[in-house]
Amino acid sequence: MGENHWTTEITKIEPNKIVVRGYRIDQLMGKYSFPQVIYLILKGELPDERTGKIIDAILVSSVDHGATPPSTLAARTIASTGSPLNAALAGGILAIYKYHGGAIENAMRQFKEIVEGGKDVRQWVEEKLKNKQIIYGFGHRYHKNDPRTARLFQMAEELGFAGEYVRAAREVASAIEEIKGKRLPVNVDGAIAAILCELEFPPELGNAFFIMARTPGLIAHIYEEQTRMKPMRKIDPVDHEYVGPPEKDLT
Ligand code: LMR
Repeated sequence: MGENHWTTEITKIEPNKIVVRGYRIDQLMGKYSFPQVIYLILKGELPDERTGKIIDAILVSSVDHGATPPSTLAARTIASTGSPLNAALAGGILAIYKYHGGAIENAMRQFKEIVEGGKDVRQWVEEKLKNKQIIYGFGHRYHKNDPRTARLFQMAEELGFAGEYVRAAREVASAIEEIKGKRLPVNVDGAIAAILCELEFPPELGNAFFIMARTPGLIAHIYEEQTRMKPMRKIDPVDHEYVGPPEKDLT
C-alpha cells in the first residue's frame, strides 16, 4: 500500500466484476429499479418495496415543469448557442438552488429543527416571519394546489411515511395561513423534504433528488432546442405554447 492509499465504501471494482454497496451490478440489473439502486448507492442498503415506491414517486414528481423554470431556460439558452449536451445540462443544473428546486435541503433542516428540537410550530413560524427569514418549501409562483404535493402526501400516507416530518410540514402551512391570512401551501420541494426526513436522509442529499429527477427533463429540452429550434433564437421565458400529444388519462 502506497502512502497515498485511501478507501471508499461505495463500489468495488475488479476485472470483470462491479460490486455496488456489496451487490453485483449484473445481479441488480433487471431485479431492482433505478430508484431502488439510487437508494442503495446513497444509503448503503437496498430499500424495502414501499421505500422504493416513494423514492420512485419523488423522482417522477420533478421530472419536468415545462419551459417555465430557470434551469430549463438556462439549459435551452446554452443549447441554442451550439454548445454540446453536457455543457447545456451542466448550465441547467447550476440554475437549481434555493429558490428553484433546491429548497429541499433548507426545508429538511427546518423540519428537523422543528421535530428534533420539539418546537411549537406556531411560535416557530411567528419567529421566522418576525425576523423576515425565508420559510423554505412553501408557496408556488404558478400553482395554488400543486398536484405533485397532493400525490406525494397521499402516497406517503398509503405507504406509511406520513410521520412527524410530514405532519410538521402541514402544520407550518396552516400556521402561515393563520398568521399571514394568506395560503402558502407546501410545495413540491417541501413535500420531498418532509418525506426525505421520514426516510432519514441527511439534508445535504436533499437537493440531489431534485437534480436527479430533473436531469431527464433538462435533456429533453436541450435535445428539442438543438433539433427543432433556430440557433441563437430569442427564448421568450413566458410566450411559449405546448404543442405535444393531447392529455391521456391513466386512472
Ligand atoms: C419546478 O418543478 O421546476 C417548478 O416547481 C419551479 C417553478 O417555480 O416553476
